[in-house]
Amino acid sequence: MKILMIGDVVGDLGRRTLLRYLPELKTLFAPDVVVVNGENSASNGRGITRAITRELLAAGVDCITLGNHTWAQPEIFDFIDSEERLLRPGNFPEGTPGHSFVSLSTPKGKCTIINLMGRSFLQSIDCPFRTLDKILNQISPNQYIFIDFHAETTSEKQSMAWYAAGRVSAIVGTHTHVQTADERILPGGTGYISDVGMVGPYDGVLGMKTDAVVRRFVTQLPVRFEVAKGREQLNAVLIELDVQTKRTKKLRRIRIDEDHPLIS
Ligand SMILES: [Fe+2]
Ligand SMILES: [Fe+2]
Repeated sequence: MKILMIGDVVGDLGRRTLLRYLPELKTLFAPDVVVVNGENSASNGRGITRAITRELLAAGVDCITLGNHTWAQPEIFDFIDSEERLLRPGNFPEGTPGHSFVSLSTPKGKCTIINLMGRSFLQSIDCPFRTLDKILNQISPNQYIFIDFHAETTSEKQSMAWYAAGRVSAIVGTHTHVQTADERILPGGTGYISDVGMVGPYDGVLGMKTDAVVRRFVTQLPVRFEVAKGREQLNAVLIELDVQTKRTKKLRRIRIDEDHPLIS
């Protein structure tokens, strides 16, 4: 059983890059489930629209996760409840629209995907740890369970990973847009990486035009950010799970850009 998790897709270039590489990635790695973080997939790099949700699902993405930019496009409220495979973090306050986990049937068995968000340097929403317990209480433990933990700090991500270790198949971090090199298998067979990385502009600051971001740091004045153009990158992880134990056998980083071509 293989899960291909692709990091935050940023803007039009991110979507184009994803759609260009996805068929090749599918041929090369034959994933059973493809999960993509879509919180930056709208043209301006914030949120997601109905058309983009449809486009990604039609392209062969099985589940889309979100994060702190979930509500950035006003139209999200018109469709989030009806898209079962579009997840928003589960620890938003009770009554928040949308779904936070989904159980998919795959040829290799049932797989539940869960989306949670950290609270360090992000909104002070409900506790992601207790929310995970609540969700795990609602589902059968005898299945593949995969978490996208959208968080800023490596310490909160590692803490969540240790908290979930032995209880889920794998947990990966998103949000920082920079892939970390700390992939490992925790005791109990839970695969982990602090951040998957992003998809989109290679020559930007986390996907945004460098001039504007640099200007903001230098001047400390408000500056409008725009998605960068030019060369592209795609970051992902391939997680191989044992069909019997539902635990991680192998977690492999995938990094594609001009300096790192796709090699099988
Ligand atoms: Fe992001
Ligand atoms: Fe984020």
